[in-house]
Order: sequence, then structure tokens, then C-alpha cells
Amino acid sequence: MRIGILGSGLMGGKLGTLFARAGHHVVFSYARSERKLKRLAREAQPNARAGTPAEAARDADAVSLAVHWSRVDDVLKQAGNLSGKVIVSCSLPMNSDDTGLVVAHTSSGAEALAKKVRRARIVAAFGTVPSEVLFGVYGARRKTRRPSLVYCGDDPGAKDVAARLIRDVGFDPVDAGPLRMARYAGKTADWMEQVSDEQYRA
Ligand SMILES: NC(=O)c1ccc[n+]([C@@H]2O[C@H](COP(=O)([O-])OP(=O)(O)OC[C@H]3O[C@@H](n4cnc5c(N)ncnc54)[C@H](OP(=O)(O)O)[C@@H]3O)[C@@H](O)[C@H]2O)c1
Repeated sequence: MRIGILGSGLMGGKLGTLFARAGHHVVFSYARSERKLKRLAREAQPNARAGTPAEAARDADAVSLAVHWSRVDDVLKQAGNLSGKVIVSCSLPMNSDDTGLVVAHTSSGAEALAKKVRRARIVAAFGTVPSEVLFGVYGARRKTRRPSLVYCGDDPGAKDVAARLIRDVGFDPVDAGPLRMARYAGKTADWMEQVSDEQYRA
């Protein structure tokens, strides 16, 4: 598949690298330096290149959204028309210092995203795992017992695409149901972040 990475930081940089290693064609976009995008692309050769968000989205079979919640509107604007596109989003609706969810209980970041890009096909995935585990999971993908990873969405075809990508990274995809299930996945991720912060402080 052709995959556009919108946000090439801890999550997007690693996911894009692993998608390229799994044989997909990846365009890294949206970082504060073009040098970083080019470095990521070079390191993920031969299946990757650097580009603008619009270039990453244009021919993509799937777009990976991996920016801080505060950057979502900006990167979507730069990406242009995403009608019909599969958007696999790990972006959680966190406040500016990442201490709490700004959308929760009655909605989720994924549902808010679906309202922003009405004709895109949104799947929430990868938001429940820390970026630090991704390379390890990929390295262990041939083991019989894979760690599971939940995903949710309302479009069956988009969910198939996301499940394939989840499998390619080395997880066992677990369909958690419709997009509104992202409310609970986001809450779990928020909770995990607080628990690990408390553990670090202890
Ligand atoms: N990190 C995790 O373990 C984790 C786990 C689950 C979910 N999430 C969620 O995933 C999303 C991405 O997290 P992350 O940790 O990957 O964030 P990150 O490392 O900060 O990556 C965000 C990307 O956006 C780019 N960016 C930020 N401001 C920009 C601007 N003004 N212009 C152009 N590019 C800009 C950053 O550029 P630079 O590369 O130059 O910094 C970076 O490439 C967030 O919503 C987070 O809540 C993260």
C-alpha cells in the first residue's frame, strides 16, 4: 500500500519506518525540519521518501495521523482534500501539557476527527501503545503469541486496511467495534500515562 505519514515524530516516525520495512511505500511529512523527514526516509529506504502533507496524502491508500491534538487542524489543512481516504489515527485529544483529555466521556478524538473530515474513513488505532514498544513488537513478529492491539471504526473497508497495518507492525489486531469505542481507548491511554507518570515520580 501507499501510506502517507502526517506527523513524523515518536509515533509517526516509527510507524512509517515499520510500514516501509513491511514493504509499503511511505511518504514522511509534517515535522519542524525537512532534514528530519529526509533522514527518516533515507533510513527507511528503498520504500520511503519525504514530502509535504499534501504529497503524503495525494495518492495514499491510507494516511497515518500522528500529531499532537493541537496540531490536527493545521496538518489537515496542509494535507488538503481527504475525502474517501482511510485515516488511521493514533492522535489522542490531550491538552497542551499532555496531562488530561480535552475530549472524553461523550465523544472521542476519533469522533471529533470524523466531524472535521466528514468524508474520510477514520479508524482509531495505535493510540493505546507507547511508541517505545513498536520496534520491539516488530522484531518479535514471528513469535507465535503476538501482543494484541485494539482498533475501532465505522467503515469496514477502512478497518481491514488498519488491521493489515496493525498486523504488519507485529500486533494481533482486535476489533473493538464502532468508532465511538475510541472514547474508552483514549481513556485507557490517558490512564496509562498518569499511572506511568506516578510510577516515574515514586
Ligand atoms: N508517543 C507515544 O508513545 C504515543 C502513544 C499513543 C498515542 N500518542 C498520540 O499520538 C500523537 C503523536 O504523538 P507523538 O508522541 O508521536 O508526538 P511527537 O513526537 O511530538 O510528533 C508530532 C510530529 O508533529 C510535528 N510537528 C509538531 N508541531 C509542528 C509544526 N508546527 N509544524 C510542523 N510539524 C510539527 C513534530 O515535528 P518534530 O518531529 O520536528 O518534533 C513531529 O514530527 C499524539 O496525539 C499523542 O497523544 C502518542
